[in-house]
Formats: sequence, C-alpha cells, structure tokens
Amino acid sequence: MQLKSISGLVAGAAVASAQCAIPVAPLPTSIPAPFRVEVQNITRPDVHGKHMNLYEAGGGDQHLFIGPVGNLTLDLTLVNGVINWLPGGVRAVIGGEFSEIDHTTKMFMTERGDPKAVFAPTYACNPDVPTETQVELSFVGWEGEPAGGWICVRNSFDGSHEFRYSPPGNDLVDVDRECVKVTLVVRPADETTRRRRRA
Ligand SMILES: *[C@@H]1O[C@H](CO)[C@@H](O)[C@H](O)[C@H]1NC(C)=O
Ligand SMILES: *[C@@H]1O[C@H](CO)[C@@H](O)[C@H](O)[C@H]1NC(C)=O
Repeated sequence: MQLKSISGLVAGAAVASAQCAIPVAPLPTSIPAPFRVEVQNITRPDVHGKHMNLYEAGGGDQHLFIGPVGNLTLDLTLVNGVINWLPGGVRAVIGGEFSEIDHTTKMFMTERGDPKAVFAPTYACNPDVPTETQVELSFVGWEGEPAGGWICVRNSFDGSHEFRYSPPGNDLVDVDRECVKVTLVVRPADETTRRRRRA
C-alpha cells in the first residue's frame, strides 16, 4: 500500500515535469545576441537537428543550406523579425527560383531590397528534450504577401537541402523533391559550442 502510493507520486511528478515551462512575458522582435539556426521536424530524421549554413553566391548574396554544404554560421541575429548576417551586410529575403511544380520560392540572404522573410521569436518545448524550453523563429510571412505560409527545405546538390517558402494553404508536393516543412530554432552561439555538433 505504502509502496503503491509512493510510486503513484513519482509517476505524477514525472508527468508534471515532462513539459517545459513557457515564460509568460512575450519575446522582443529582435535578438541581438549571435545565434545559429537549427532546423527541426521530428518526423523527418533526414533534416531534423541540422543547421542553416551560408553559401557564398554572386554579388555578395549568401544562399542558405543545411549540410553538408556551406559555412557553419554562428553569428546570425534577428532585427525586427528579420534574420541578419551583419558581417556580410545581408538579410533573409524571399524571391527568385519560383517552382511551378510545388509553388515554393527560394529564401536567401542579400543586401538588396527584396521583400523580407519575417519571423516572430516564440517560446516552445524542445521536441528532443520536452522539459527544455527553446526559442523558435515562428514564420510570420513574406513581406508584401498574404500573411502565413511556412519555411521548408528541399533536396539540392551534394546531399544538401535549400531553404524555401511555401505560401499559405499550399498543398502541392513535388514527389521527387518534397519540400519538408521545418521549424527554425535559435541556438545561442555560446550554447552551440557546448552541444554535440551536426552539420
Ligand atoms: C566560406 O567562408 C570562406 C571564408 O569567408 C569563404 O572564402 C568561402 O567562399 C565560403 N564558402 C562558401 C561555400 O560560402
Ligand atoms: C514535417 O514535414 C511534413 C512534410 O512537409 C509536414 O507535413 C509536417 O507537418 C512536418 N512536421 C512538423 C512537426 O513540422
């Protein structure tokens, strides 16, 4: 009897602590401390836990990939909801390479004035460690377009995936090159150096 009630208590405590604590105060729309972006989709191990790398393109632009291509980038910041890489003077925008087959459009970084990708920092529980709180960059929308949609990653060269925007309500899928919906997670640079690294 005594033992049973103790194990009941322990089980209850385990359930109570299985969820992370979400702070009540909202997050500001800028994150000045340098971070790396982790990509999550717990049902898709091929992309889950990988990171946003920068890949030098023409005219000072940087294209965005998850490994194995591109440079590991620990010094991203968020400025009014827009991902910036200040050393290169570039910010994340959406435009170009529209795909007729799945209606997605490339997200990349440039210093030019293309319409931006806008995100809102949001607290959530880490799907890998449900007791741990993380800050996600919840996708708000493509500047100048109807709000909503999501960011996805699609197969590209040398086993990498490129970042793309999918418009609200889009259900077109290119079966040969599915664009996998992902959550972008802020990994502070100082925390990243302590973690197990995945390209
Ligand atoms: C990685 O960074 C180095 C140093 O800035 C640069 O020379 C190189 O072109 C970059 N590589 C890619 C793929 O962007
Ligand atoms: C994972 O990707 C699939 C395919 O894009 C999508 O339907 C699903 O909603 C994604 N799951 C999460 C948790 O983002």
